[in-house]
Amino acid sequence: MKIIGVVASARKNKSSKFLTEQCLQAAKGSAEEAGQNLEVELIELAGLNVNGCIACDACKKGVLCSQEDDYQPLIAKLADPEVVGIILATPVYMGSMSSQAKAFIDRTVLFRRNGFMFKNKLGGAIAVGGSRNGGQELTIQAVHAAMMIHDMIIIGDGDHFGGAAWGNHPDGYENDTVGIATAQNLGRRMAEVASTMQIS
Ligand SMILES: Cc1cc2nc3c(=O)[nH]c(=O)nc-3n(C[C@H](O)[C@H](O)[C@H](O)COP(=O)(O)O)c2cc1C
Repeated sequence: MKIIGVVASARKNKSSKFLTEQCLQAAKGSAEEAGQNLEVELIELAGLNVNGCIACDACKKGVLCSQEDDYQPLIAKLADPEVVGIILATPVYMGSMSSQAKAFIDRTVLFRRNGFMFKNKLGGAIAVGGSRNGGQELTIQAVHAAMMIHDMIIIGDGDHFGGAAWGNHPDGYENDTVGIATAQNLGRRMAEVASTMQIS
Protein backbone atom coordinates (compact mmCIF):
# COMPACT_ATOMS: atom_id res chain seq x y z
CA MET A 1 0.00 0.00 0.00
CA LYS A 2 1.08 3.52 -0.70
CA ILE A 3 0.35 7.08 0.42
CA ILE A 4 1.05 9.98 -1.91
CA GLY A 5 1.69 13.47 -0.55
CA VAL A 6 1.12 16.29 -3.01
CA VAL A 7 2.76 19.59 -2.07
CA ALA A 8 0.98 22.54 -3.65
CA SER A 9 3.17 25.46 -2.66
CA ALA A 10 4.34 27.83 -5.37
CA ARG A 11 7.80 27.44 -3.80
CA LYS A 12 10.04 24.41 -3.82
CA ASN A 13 11.40 22.93 -0.63
CA LYS A 14 9.63 25.25 1.80
CA SER A 15 7.32 24.81 4.77
CA SER A 16 4.54 22.86 3.02
CA LYS A 17 7.07 20.30 1.81
CA PHE A 18 8.66 20.06 5.24
CA LEU A 19 5.30 19.38 6.89
CA THR A 20 4.41 16.79 4.25
CA GLU A 21 7.70 14.99 4.84
CA GLN A 22 6.92 14.92 8.54
CA CYS A 23 3.48 13.51 7.80
CA LEU A 24 4.68 10.81 5.40
CA GLN A 25 7.58 9.75 7.63
CA ALA A 26 5.19 9.37 10.56
CA ALA A 27 2.80 7.32 8.43
CA LYS A 28 5.61 5.02 7.34
CA GLY A 29 6.95 4.67 10.87
CA SER A 30 3.50 3.88 12.21
CA ALA A 31 2.91 1.21 9.57
CA GLU A 32 6.32 -0.34 10.26
CA GLU A 33 5.54 -0.50 13.96
CA ALA A 34 2.39 -2.42 13.03
CA GLY A 35 4.45 -4.78 10.87
CA GLN A 36 3.14 -3.41 7.60
CA ASN A 37 4.96 -2.18 4.57
CA LEU A 38 3.82 1.27 3.52
CA GLU A 39 5.35 3.08 0.59
CA VAL A 40 5.23 6.87 0.53
CA GLU A 41 5.85 9.31 -2.30
CA LEU A 42 6.05 13.09 -2.20
CA ILE A 43 5.18 15.08 -5.30
CA GLU A 44 6.02 18.79 -5.37
CA LEU A 45 3.94 20.84 -7.79
CA ALA A 46 6.33 23.80 -7.61
CA GLY A 47 8.32 23.93 -10.80
CA LEU A 48 5.75 21.84 -12.65
CA ASN A 49 3.36 23.29 -15.16
CA VAL A 50 -0.09 22.12 -14.10
CA ASN A 51 -2.74 24.27 -15.71
CA GLY A 52 -6.29 24.66 -14.51
CA CYS A 53 -8.96 22.43 -15.99
CA ILE A 54 -10.28 23.77 -19.29
CA ALA A 55 -13.55 21.81 -19.11
CA CYS A 56 -13.02 20.21 -22.51
CA ASP A 57 -14.72 17.03 -21.24
CA ALA A 58 -12.14 14.77 -22.93
CA CYS A 59 -11.99 12.81 -19.66
CA LYS A 60 -15.59 11.76 -20.14
CA LYS A 61 -14.22 9.37 -22.76
CA GLY A 62 -11.60 7.71 -20.56
CA VAL A 63 -8.88 8.08 -17.95
CA LEU A 64 -7.11 10.82 -19.85
CA CYS A 65 -6.59 14.55 -20.03
CA SER A 66 -6.30 16.60 -23.21
CA GLN A 67 -3.78 19.05 -21.77
CA GLU A 68 -0.18 18.09 -22.51
CA ASP A 69 1.39 19.55 -19.40
CA ASP A 70 3.13 18.20 -16.31
CA TYR A 71 -0.08 16.69 -14.98
CA GLN A 72 0.16 13.88 -17.52
CA PRO A 73 2.73 11.76 -15.60
CA LEU A 74 0.76 12.26 -12.40
CA ILE A 75 -2.29 10.47 -13.83
CA ALA A 76 -0.63 7.04 -13.72
CA LYS A 77 0.80 7.68 -10.26
CA LEU A 78 -2.62 8.58 -8.87
CA ALA A 79 -4.38 5.74 -10.69
CA ASP A 80 -2.05 3.13 -9.15
CA PRO A 81 -4.33 0.75 -7.21
CA GLU A 82 -1.63 0.49 -4.54
CA VAL A 83 -2.45 4.08 -3.53
CA VAL A 84 -4.61 3.93 -0.40
CA GLY A 85 -4.35 7.55 0.62
CA ILE A 86 -3.62 11.02 -0.66
CA ILE A 87 -2.38 13.93 1.43
CA LEU A 88 -2.70 17.36 -0.10
CA ALA A 89 -0.53 20.04 1.49
CA THR A 90 -1.10 23.65 0.58
CA PRO A 91 -0.01 27.04 1.82
CA VAL A 92 -2.85 29.34 2.83
CA TYR A 93 -3.24 31.91 0.08
CA MET A 94 -5.82 34.62 0.75
CA GLY A 95 -7.60 32.46 3.29
CA SER A 96 -7.84 29.35 1.16
CA MET A 97 -5.77 26.89 -0.86
CA SER A 98 -3.13 27.94 -3.40
CA SER A 99 -4.03 28.17 -7.07
CA GLN A 100 -1.59 25.30 -7.59
CA ALA A 101 -3.65 23.16 -5.21
CA LYS A 102 -6.91 24.13 -6.90
CA ALA A 103 -5.56 23.44 -10.38
CA PHE A 104 -4.36 20.03 -9.21
CA ILE A 105 -7.69 19.22 -7.56
CA ASP A 106 -9.73 20.31 -10.56
CA ARG A 107 -7.63 18.14 -12.85
CA THR A 108 -8.44 15.09 -10.68
CA VAL A 109 -12.03 15.27 -11.95
CA LEU A 110 -11.00 12.68 -14.54
CA PHE A 111 -10.83 10.04 -11.79
CA ARG A 112 -14.36 10.90 -10.67
CA ARG A 113 -15.68 10.78 -14.19
CA ASN A 114 -14.30 7.30 -14.75
CA GLY A 115 -15.99 5.29 -12.05
CA PHE A 116 -15.04 7.29 -8.95
CA MET A 117 -11.53 5.87 -8.91
CA PHE A 118 -10.70 7.67 -5.63
CA LYS A 119 -13.76 6.24 -3.85
CA ASN A 120 -12.79 4.82 -0.45
CA LYS A 121 -9.25 6.10 -0.69
CA LEU A 122 -8.18 8.03 2.39
CA GLY A 123 -7.78 11.78 2.10
CA GLY A 124 -6.05 14.22 4.40
CA ALA A 125 -4.99 17.85 4.26
CA ILE A 126 -2.15 19.99 5.55
CA ALA A 127 -2.35 23.79 5.48
CA VAL A 128 0.53 26.12 6.31
CA GLY A 129 -0.19 29.80 6.88
CA GLY A 130 2.19 32.70 7.33
CA SER A 131 0.09 33.72 10.32
CA ARG A 132 -0.64 31.42 13.20
CA ASN A 133 -4.38 31.76 12.59
CA GLY A 134 -4.37 32.78 8.93
CA GLY A 135 -7.02 30.45 7.57
CA GLN A 136 -5.48 26.99 8.00
CA GLU A 137 -8.73 25.36 9.10
CA LEU A 138 -10.79 26.98 6.34
CA THR A 139 -8.19 25.83 3.84
CA ILE A 140 -8.24 22.28 5.16
CA GLN A 141 -12.04 22.27 4.89
CA ALA A 142 -11.85 23.41 1.26
CA VAL A 143 -9.52 20.51 0.46
CA HIS A 144 -11.76 18.11 2.37
CA ALA A 145 -14.77 19.28 0.34
CA ALA A 146 -13.06 18.27 -2.88
CA MET A 147 -12.08 14.94 -1.37
CA MET A 148 -15.70 14.32 -0.41
CA ILE A 149 -16.73 15.03 -3.98
CA HIS A 150 -14.44 12.12 -4.89
CA ASP A 151 -16.21 9.99 -2.24
CA MET A 152 -12.93 9.65 -0.41
CA ILE A 153 -12.78 8.93 3.33
CA ILE A 154 -11.58 12.01 5.18
CA ILE A 155 -8.89 11.55 7.79
CA GLY A 156 -7.97 14.11 10.45
CA ASP A 157 -5.12 14.16 12.91
CA GLY A 158 -7.00 12.17 15.53
CA ASP A 159 -7.87 15.35 17.38
CA HIS A 160 -8.81 18.04 14.90
CA PHE A 161 -8.80 18.57 11.15
CA GLY A 162 -5.35 17.59 9.97
CA GLY A 163 -2.01 19.31 9.60
CA ALA A 164 -2.21 22.98 10.54
CA ALA A 165 1.11 24.78 10.73
CA TRP A 166 2.65 28.21 11.05
CA GLY A 167 5.13 28.98 8.30
CA ASN A 168 6.42 32.16 9.92
CA HIS A 169 6.89 30.66 13.36
CA PRO A 170 9.34 32.91 15.26
CA ASP A 171 11.71 29.95 15.70
CA GLY A 172 11.30 28.82 12.09
CA TYR A 173 8.74 26.37 10.70
CA GLU A 174 11.12 23.52 11.50
CA ASN A 175 10.49 24.36 15.18
CA ASP A 176 6.72 24.74 15.03
CA THR A 177 6.33 21.74 17.30
CA VAL A 178 2.54 22.09 17.57
CA GLY A 179 2.09 22.27 13.78
CA ILE A 180 4.57 19.46 13.16
CA ALA A 181 2.70 17.26 15.63
CA THR A 182 -0.58 17.77 13.72
CA ALA A 183 1.07 16.75 10.45
CA GLN A 184 2.70 13.70 12.05
CA ASN A 185 -0.54 12.69 13.73
CA LEU A 186 -2.36 12.97 10.40
CA GLY A 187 0.16 10.57 8.88
CA ARG A 188 -0.11 8.14 11.79
CA ARG A 189 -3.89 8.28 11.68
CA MET A 190 -3.95 7.60 7.95
CA ALA A 191 -1.65 4.60 8.36
CA GLU A 192 -3.78 3.37 11.24
CA VAL A 193 -7.05 3.62 9.30
CA ALA A 194 -5.50 2.04 6.20
CA SER A 195 -4.34 -0.84 8.36
CA THR A 196 -7.71 -1.18 10.12
CA MET A 197 -9.53 -1.26 6.82
CA GLN A 198 -6.94 -3.72 5.53
CA ILE A 199 -6.76 -1.81 2.29
CA SER A 200 -3.99 -3.18 0.17
C1 LIG B 1 -0.51 35.10 -2.42
C2 LIG B 1 -0.28 34.76 -0.98
C3 LIG B 1 -1.32 34.85 -0.11
C4 LIG B 1 -1.16 34.50 1.23
N1 LIG B 1 -2.24 34.52 2.05
C5 LIG B 1 -2.11 34.11 3.33
C6 LIG B 1 -3.26 34.06 4.19
O1 LIG B 1 -4.38 34.36 3.81
N2 LIG B 1 -3.07 33.61 5.46
C7 LIG B 1 -1.82 33.27 5.94
O2 LIG B 1 -1.71 32.89 7.11
N3 LIG B 1 -0.72 33.31 5.15
C8 LIG B 1 -0.84 33.70 3.85
N4 LIG B 1 0.26 33.71 3.02
C9 LIG B 1 1.55 33.22 3.55
C10 LIG B 1 1.80 31.73 3.22
O3 LIG B 1 0.69 30.93 3.57
C11 LIG B 1 3.00 31.21 4.01
O4 LIG B 1 4.16 31.95 3.64
C12 LIG B 1 3.27 29.73 3.80
O5 LIG B 1 4.20 29.29 4.74
C13 LIG B 1 3.82 29.44 2.42
O6 LIG B 1 4.04 28.06 2.27
P1 LIG B 1 5.44 27.53 1.70
O7 LIG B 1 6.48 27.89 2.71
O8 LIG B 1 5.30 26.05 1.57
O9 LIG B 1 5.67 28.18 0.38
C14 LIG B 1 0.11 34.07 1.69
C15 LIG B 1 1.20 34.04 0.80
C16 LIG B 1 1.00 34.37 -0.52
C17 LIG B 1 2.17 34.29 -1.48
